[in-house]
Amino acid sequence: MARILVDCDPGHDDAVALVTAAHYGELVGITTVGGNAPLADVTSNALLTCQLFDIQVDVHAGADRPLVAPPRHAPEIHGVSGFAGPSLPALERGPASSDGVDYLIDTIRSEEGLWLVPIGPLTNVALAFRQAPDLPRRLAGVSFMGGSATIGNHTPVAEFNVLVDPEAAAVVLASGAHIQMAGLDLTHQFVIDDGLVADIATIGGTGATVISELVVSYLDQVEQVRGLRKGGLHDPCAVLAVTHPEVIRHRLRRVDVELTGTFTRGMTVVDRRPGRVSDTEGADGQPLNVHHGHTLDHETARRLVLDAIAARSRADR
Ligand code: RIB
Ligand code: CA
Repeated sequence: MARILVDCDPGHDDAVALVTAAHYGELVGITTVGGNAPLADVTSNALLTCQLFDIQVDVHAGADRPLVAPPRHAPEIHGVSGFAGPSLPALERGPASSDGVDYLIDTIRSEEGLWLVPIGPLTNVALAFRQAPDLPRRLAGVSFMGGSATIGNHTPVAEFNVLVDPEAAAVVLASGAHIQMAGLDLTHQFVIDDGLVADIATIGGTGATVISELVVSYLDQVEQVRGLRKGGLHDPCAVLAVTHPEVIRHRLRRVDVELTGTFTRGMTVVDRRPGRVSDTEGADGQPLNVHHGHTLDHETARRLVLDAIAARSRADR
């Protein structure tokens, strides 16, 4: 069973990813990063998710701002708190530390072969890799949700996690780690719609009810902001790529991050040209650095996620 560290910025899809990781993997620890909402809010949301789904894992708060860019959040989609929609219980515990980056360094140095699953901006991961260049080769891999080989969401070409901290994403993609990418071109194959909401709500229990209300709020906001009552359940895809690799097909490609473009900053440039010089070099000899997730077995992924929520949603929480 894969032993997993999740770095997140809950958000409803982060919450589902945490439940999925706890159910199908060995969730070793959780770190949080400012993203969907400010650090204090996403840290509370991660703790609430653990409380609602009986996930007995420490949560360590990490970076509250990107490496160089100003902080950027998504209140128009996730609400100011990041968990808009349901009424939420009082927190029963706080974060184990506010040293999420040190926690990542110490934990990855203490155990070889962990999977690191970043599902928010990559700031914590970049800071850890910069401070401890030995980390990438100690990991089994980095399976991140971010970027896109096609369209963006928060700009025409940039996906939110990479857009918030493009410099951090560039550090991670150049780290030499085994990297798996769950970009929007993959995660939009995991459709969020009112049908998924109904299936989650049918599960029952406090946890499932909270998730269904978070997703309804997300759909309401997306419909209002983008005129489309539909989205992708993004973050669980990065977890399933580790716990159920048969669910996602990957291809080794060259991926770079645009840092300076007026209209394209934060874009992940995924080289999908057919030619390649060798198994490890792309069309122009560039080293291939990312296993790009391109096809999702949606039916299986959807069942796995619903089963994980059902297994851990408790009426008494
Ligand atoms: O663009 C989707 C990503 O941004 C997801 O991780 C979601 O939680 C938000 O962080
Ligand atoms: Ca996220």
